Amino acid sequence: MSGFDLLIRGGLLVDGTGRPGRPADVGVAAGRLTVLAPGEAPRTGAAEVIDARGRVVAPGFVDVHTHSDGVTLLGPSGGRSALVRASVLQGVTTEICGNCGSSLFPALPERLPAMRAETRITFGGDVGAYADFAGFAAAHAEVPRANHLASLVGHGTLRAGVLGPVDRPARPDELRTMCALLDASLAQGAAGLSTGLIYTPGSYAGTDEVVALAAVAARHGKPYVTHLRDEMSRVEEALEEAIEISRRSGAALHVSHHKTAGRYAWGRTERTLPRIAALRAEGMDVTCDVYPYTAGSTALAAMLPPWANDGGLGALTARLGDPAQRDRMRRAIAEGVPGWENTVGNGGWDRISVACAPRHPQAEGRTVADLAASAGADPLDVAADLLVAEAGEVTIISHSMVEEDVRRVLAAPYAMIGSDGVPKPGGRPHPRWAGTFPRVLGRYVRELGLLRLEEAVHKMTGMAAARFGLTGRGVVGDGAHADLVVFDPATVADRATFTEPLLPPAGIDAVVAGGEVVVRGGEETGARPGKVLTL
Ligand code: ZN
Ligand code: CU
Repeated sequence: MSGFDLLIRGGLLVDGTGRPGRPADVGVAAGRLTVLAPGEAPRTGAAEVIDARGRVVAPGFVDVHTHSDGVTLLGPSGGRSALVRASVLQGVTTEICGNCGSSLFPALPERLPAMRAETRITFGGDVGAYADFAGFAAAHAEVPRANHLASLVGHGTLRAGVLGPVDRPARPDELRTMCALLDASLAQGAAGLSTGLIYTPGSYAGTDEVVALAAVAARHGKPYVTHLRDEMSRVEEALEEAIEISRRSGAALHVSHHKTAGRYAWGRTERTLPRIAALRAEGMDVTCDVYPYTAGSTALAAMLPPWANDGGLGALTARLGDPAQRDRMRRAIAEGVPGWENTVGNGGWDRISVACAPRHPQAEGRTVADLAASAGADPLDVAADLLVAEAGEVTIISHSMVEEDVRRVLAAPYAMIGSDGVPKPGGRPHPRWAGTFPRVLGRYVRELGLLRLEEAVHKMTGMAAARFGLTGRGVVGDGAHADLVVFDPATVADRATFTEPLLPPAGIDAVVAGGEVVVRGGEETGARPGKVLTL
């Protein structure tokens, strides 16, 4: 027994299946794993030995919900490296991007220049737009990365890539084109279909359009992943729409970042979770993910009614220049619009703080209500002026949830962990991009005892790999891909905060991806074995 590239000795193996941890050594050779009884491997013969005494050895974490589609494509300047590093430093060896209806592909060739202009704004730099998954994967293959990346097909992107960002139903020929582009990218290896039904242009689609597309995913045996049409006062109706889409299309259902946010929906997880559990008991394949924070993060433009965003960001900023249009928006927020989530109407501008406004760093970290009070202005005008000055792109943090709901979702046996991280240069992004996984292990496992360690690791690994078809990942076993994390269960903790959002965690000692050590002693090694995964 020798010839390992790497031997991890003396740790407690928590293998990702949910089974109790057991002492074991883990050998790595040619990118694959061998599990050994303690002391079975000779002390010599491995090129590198990691001493894991007192540590947990687990499969590398799978972050099932990211918006990291473009961060490695941004180039080496402007904080890119700190943004890229944050994920792998928390133990993530596979990121699944393309969530919430937004991906960097697919689109008809004639739509690509306009799509590229939009992705430049939404991803904070020129990350491109691609005709299909193969084009996306080829662009990523040019840029070395530490961990692996898989991508869903975003429905909003797909729709804009065929119709443009317009507020109308798709014509039958357009829907056929969308189905064909989706089919091609899924055949090339994309992970499934995602929607973001609160976001334009995805929100312009009715249920039938999504059913037709989800049926394409179903034919590939890939899931329908959805940011529900409403996560606030109408969250139960929105969940029923997702269930209907899954039933009619035959696609498995995965509910993204499940939450019941805003004062009218607090406590509603007491109804949504039993509903999901009952469906599972009937045999329906439905799962969800969750991040361990009571605040969310999104675009400031999403605080405005859907018609305001018709035509894309350029059309939005033009409307914001017109006082009469602003008054219409103010009224829509005060009175609501049928079928629109209306975050501000469900909470208030005092719960919305500016996370990233590149030309207005003095606004970052402050609430819109507070900015309005100091300017002696109406909050909608403050938000509108900021959007105009920033050409439409301002990121916000929305303090919209209560802890009891977050805990209930975390504890649900079918809930996996996804950061919903938005790694965009500048400002103060939500700390979930750097803190999610250690926060679950430190706060919710060790401090609060909400989850057993093995359960939490399963939610971060084996459960996620099974949902997204990551064959040979998410579980430590003989012949599995060598993606691993070594952490100290006594000290693991998130350190990222809303004021210092990229602070690396404590207690994540080593990370192995594709058989290479990418983090050692809590620091990146510089190895770049990561790949785009073709599923
Ligand atoms: Zn989302
Ligand atoms: Cu998201």
